Amino acid sequence: MSVLEKANETLAEFKKIVNTGLAQSFEAGCGYKVGVDLGTSSIVLVVLDGENRVLFGAFEYADVIRDGLVVNYQQSVEIVSRLKKQAEDALGFTLKKASGAIPPGTIGNNKRIVGNVIESSGMELDKIVDEPTAAACLLQLEHGAVIDVGGGTTGISIFENGEVILSADEATGGTHMTLVIAGFHKIPIPEAEVRKRNPQLDAECFSICRPVVQRMAEITRKILEKQPSEPLFVVGGASILSEFEQEFSKYLNQAVYKPDYPQFVTPIGIAMSSEIIDEVS
Ligand SMILES: Nc1ncnc2c1ncn2[C@@H]1O[C@H](COP(=O)(O)OP(=O)(O)OP(=O)(O)O)[C@@H](O)[C@H]1O
Ligand SMILES: [Mg+2]
Repeated sequence: MSVLEKANETLAEFKKIVNTGLAQSFEAGCGYKVGVDLGTSSIVLVVLDGENRVLFGAFEYADVIRDGLVVNYQQSVEIVSRLKKQAEDALGFTLKKASGAIPPGTIGNNKRIVGNVIESSGMELDKIVDEPTAAACLLQLEHGAVIDVGGGTTGISIFENGEVILSADEATGGTHMTLVIAGFHKIPIPEAEVRKRNPQLDAECFSICRPVVQRMAEITRKILEKQPSEPLFVVGGASILSEFEQEFSKYLNQAVYKPDYPQFVTPIGIAMSSEIIDEVS
């Protein structure tokens, strides 16, 4: 099985269970791992077992992060606490530790704050990982590039021997696609967001958003000009539109791969990067 097929299998398991309030049955003694992804458009909590099988997943849409920075601390803590409680109710044990992630280049207080949100939600902090490194973990990527197109930003990271050798994060993301749809139809932003997520309007929305997607591809091209790399993977919720990877591929003139449910790659990768917690109580 290829690495992408393996990642897609895990993503499909996650998609099946996410926000159902149910946990996958698990073997005692296998341990567990927890990841929390504080994103611009949602906060996701993932619980895996010690062998990276999906046990639980839940998310809430949130407006507490801007460009990778926590702007509403209290609300972030409330959401993570709620997601933790849901997981514990479903799993029947207490989540002791969790890891979080930050966009590449985050420093100082902004780096600490993600850990503080996790700790204020009643868990010990395990690791703070780089978002693209988390994504690369699920994709088992040693060499190549991850392009994470989230709500607020497009982040590109190039890997060699499993280490990030170059990264960039620029403020063009899914939100900008929504703004273009709102402008085109002269409709309010929330309505444009609903249109963008409607699979029946996928082709229409894509053609309206094409210039924004090309701008994201241009951001990527500039980085690849400095450091050519392959294979390329696009992840993140904004890449869900079905023609997204083809447009990237055409613009960059090289193959671009997109996992299924790309919005869950980074959150699952954060949990995968975590330490296994043995005790279940
Ligand atoms: N079905 C969908 N079709 C198109 N776009 C979608 C869909 N679902 C989510 N999105 C878009 O994905 C973006 C959010 O992606 P993602 O969840 O990866 O971001 P995030 O991790 O919260 O943000 P960031 O990484 O920028 O902090 C939003 O702009 C949202 O509109
Ligand atoms: Mg993200």
